[in-house]
Amino acid sequence: MNLYFAPMEGVTGFLFRNVHHEVYPGIDKYFTPFVSPGAEKGLGAHGRRDVLPENNRGIPLVPQILTNRADIFLRTAKLFHEEYGYAEVNLNLGCPSPTVVPKGKGAGFLSYPDDLERFFDRIFSDETVSSGKLLISVKTRIGKTSPEEWPRLMEIYNRFPLSELIVHPRIQTDMYRNHPDLSVFSSALAESRNPLVYNGDIFSVSAMDRFRERFPSVDTVMLGRGLLYDPGLAERLTQSSGRDADNEKVRYAKLKKFHDRLLEEYCGFLSGDRQVLAKMKEVWAYMIIRFPDAGKLEKKLKKSTRLAEYRETVDALFESVRI
Ligand SMILES: Cc1cc2nc3c(=O)[nH]c(=O)nc-3n(C[C@H](O)[C@H](O)[C@H](O)COP(=O)(O)O)c2cc1C
Repeated sequence: MNLYFAPMEGVTGFLFRNVHHEVYPGIDKYFTPFVSPGAEKGLGAHGRRDVLPENNRGIPLVPQILTNRADIFLRTAKLFHEEYGYAEVNLNLGCPSPTVVPKGKGAGFLSYPDDLERFFDRIFSDETVSSGKLLISVKTRIGKTSPEEWPRLMEIYNRFPLSELIVHPRIQTDMYRNHPDLSVFSSALAESRNPLVYNGDIFSVSAMDRFRERFPSVDTVMLGRGLLYDPGLAERLTQSSGRDADNEKVRYAKLKKFHDRLLEEYCGFLSGDRQVLAKMKEVWAYMIIRFPDAGKLEKKLKKSTRLAEYRETVDALFESVRI
C-alpha cells in the first residue's frame, strides 16, 4: 500500500514536512498546501519558499496549484518543472473554503464542467505536458452541491491522461461534515481510466482495514487529518505489530521527538513566542487526541503565551501518558 500525506494549508508547510519525514520516514509522497498564483504577481514569497527544492531535500514532493486559469496553471507548473525540477504537479479541485469557492476555484471549479474541460484541453495540448515530461495529477471532490455532478466530472477526467486522480468523496457543501460517499468512490473505481487514489477519514488501523476489505484493488491512499491526530499513523498502518505497551512506549517517545524537533524548527524560523506557539497550537488541536486524559493540561496548553510555560505543560502531558 502506498501512503500519501495530504496537503493541509496552514499546517503541513515545509518545516512540518521536513520534521515529519525525518522522524517518520516512509511516506511515499507529500503534497504542498496549495499555492494560488496571481495573474500578475505570480507565486509570492510564502508559496515560493514552501516549494523551493533546498527547503525540501530528500522529500518526495508534489507541489499543488489552485487556479481556474490554464495560462496561470501552465506558467506555474512550468516554473516548478523547469526551474525546480518537479516531475509532477497537482491541481486542487477540492478546496471547500468560502474564500476560494465563490471565485470558481478549488471545489468551486466543479460547478463549471465545460470550463473545466476547456482548461484541461489547454493544459494537455501543451508540449511539456503532452510529451509526458510533466505529469499532471488532480485532487478532487465529487461535486459542488450534489454527488449527481460526478458522472460528468468522471467523463471529463477520463478524457485526459492524468498521472493520478485523487478522490475525496465529499461534495463542497459537506466541508468536512458527513461521511465520504463510498458508493460514488466505488463507481469511480469501476470507471476511471486513470490511476485512482482514495482520500478521506482514514484515522485508524481499523478504518484502513475496513477500507481495504471493501476496496482490495486500491493500492494508494492519501492520509490527511489522520496524520495530524497521530503523526505516526502511517507507521502503524504498515507495521504488523499490535498495540501492546512496549509499542505504545516507543510511539510516545517518537511523538515527543517529533514535537521537540518541530518546536525547534519553528523557534529557529519564526520570531517571538507568540508566533511559535500559534503554530504549535495548530498541531496540538489534532494531536491532543493521543492524550485522552489531558483535561486541565489541554486548557493550560491552549492558554500558554510563553514558551517556558508551554514546554512545562508539554512535558507534563507526555508524563501523563507514561506507560
Ligand atoms: C486544515 C486543513 C487544510 C487543508 N488544506 C488543503 C490544501 O491546501 N489542499 C488540498 O488539496 N486539500 C487541503 N485540505 C484537505 C485535505 O488535504 C484532505 O483532502 C481532507 O482533510 C480529507 O482527508 P482526511 O479525511 O484524511 O483528513 C485541508 C484540510 C485541512 C483539515
